[in-house]
Amino acid sequence: MGKSFAVIGDPIDHSLSPNIHSAAFRELDLDSSYIAFRIPKGELAGGLEGLKKIKIDGFNVTIPHKIEMMKYLDRIDESCSVIGAVNTVSNKEGIFKGYNTDMDGFLEPFKEKKLNIANTKVLLLGAGGAARAIVAGFAKEKAGSVTIANRTLENAKSLSEFSKKVGLNSNAIKIEDVNDSAKDYDIIVNATSVGLRNEPSPISLDGINEKTIVYDIVYMPMNTDFIKKAKDNDSIVIFGYEMLLGQAVRSFEIWHNMEAPYNAMKKALLGGF
Ligand code: ATR
Repeated sequence: MGKSFAVIGDPIDHSLSPNIHSAAFRELDLDSSYIAFRIPKGELAGGLEGLKKIKIDGFNVTIPHKIEMMKYLDRIDESCSVIGAVNTVSNKEGIFKGYNTDMDGFLEPFKEKKLNIANTKVLLLGAGGAARAIVAGFAKEKAGSVTIANRTLENAKSLSEFSKKVGLNSNAIKIEDVNDSAKDYDIIVNATSVGLRNEPSPISLDGINEKTIVYDIVYMPMNTDFIKKAKDNDSIVIFGYEMLLGQAVRSFEIWHNMEAPYNAMKKALLGGF
């Protein structure tokens, strides 16, 4: 019998995950399907009952359920417990096991492009759920230090505590206090939602150079103002879609136990823009 998969969240109608996974099924001739399923905030329990009834084989979890979903898991992979949020679930005979592929997805482009993280100085903008997975990733790859800059200083401080706990040197500042210090960092990551609505870059990128790695996790639009400013300075750019692709590839491998067709998935993703 064919297998079925889904992505749950709200809003969900613009999700690119169905395109990416369906392309993989086609490429490998798998008898599987993948749908977007809208579950509004507050209706997660009922939505999950429905997924169990139709014997869904696995699903991705996105905003606003990534943290609440933890409560409904029967088994928790380490990737998930470290980050405290779940974005991928497998269902084996009614047993839900949760994973978080955001960290691996975030790191994927560095591996793909052979970019070094060890001992670098990182500036991370944002302190939400995505930023937490990113801190775990930088800790794993032994970055030298991370400065967490956020609109709300309290949130930056609490993420900085988490960072130290996972072994990564860290400090917290307010995002407006970055001023003209961007040039002092090797890697600059935007993990805020600024850019989604075409807003100007949350910080000035003056003085960065061709060795600076600039990574935006906002993937729509592809060329945010933040990315454009990085390109103006000839910096090394990593697009948000690359992380999206990386986490989808990891999810695929968890569910199907085989190597994901990276190029077919990338083509489908880029076709969605
Ligand atoms: P995600 O799961 O995508 O990380 P989130 O947890 O809601 O989403 O986090 C959103 C991040 O974007 C936060 O760091 C938030 O800053 P606050 O902690 O101050 O809320 C940041 N953010 C959202 N809108 C912003 C804005 N207009 N200016 C600056 N930062 C913003």
